[in-house]
Amino acid sequence: MNGQESAEGARAVVPTGKADAGQSVFVTKGCHQCHSAGATKLPPVELAPRLVIELGGDVHSKWTRDDYARAIMDPNHLVSEDYKIAMIRLGDHFKAENSPMPTFADVLRVSELIDLVTFLDSLTD
Ligand code: HEC
Repeated sequence: MNGQESAEGARAVVPTGKADAGQSVFVTKGCHQCHSAGATKLPPVELAPRLVIELGGDVHSKWTRDDYARAIMDPNHLVSEDYKIAMIRLGDHFKAENSPMPTFADVLRVSELIDLVTFLDSLTD
């Protein structure tokens, strides 16, 4: 790293995978229980979450595969602004700093992670 990394992910760590396979991972691993994915039609969930966190919308227009991978591998390193604001409004500062998103480190294969972030990244292209 020499600090010249481009924001456009020219030197991205995560290679390009298969977006359609990533969409299946999104559903089979249950991401859609808590997230929307741009305008993608996803199967309905039985227990609708109180707060659906949008992925792939305007908020993430600058996000690269790496940004998504980072957020998935380590949810606490960066907690979504929308979520923070919602929790602070509720007066819950602990939750505002600590993501309730479960860890997927032991659940996703590397190839699944690559396809997943390729899918998420494709939503804002
Ligand atoms: C139990 C609910 C839940 C599940 C399941 C879940 N997430 Fe999350 N996720 C959250 C919440 C709440 C946030 C907002 C707090 C944060 O940023 O960590 C979040 C944040 C994120 C973010 C960062 C968004 C931002 O703007 O910072 C990404 C990317 C993400 N999730 C991807 C995924 C993927 C991919 C899966 C499936 C492998 C998944 N999540 C499964 C609840 C969940």
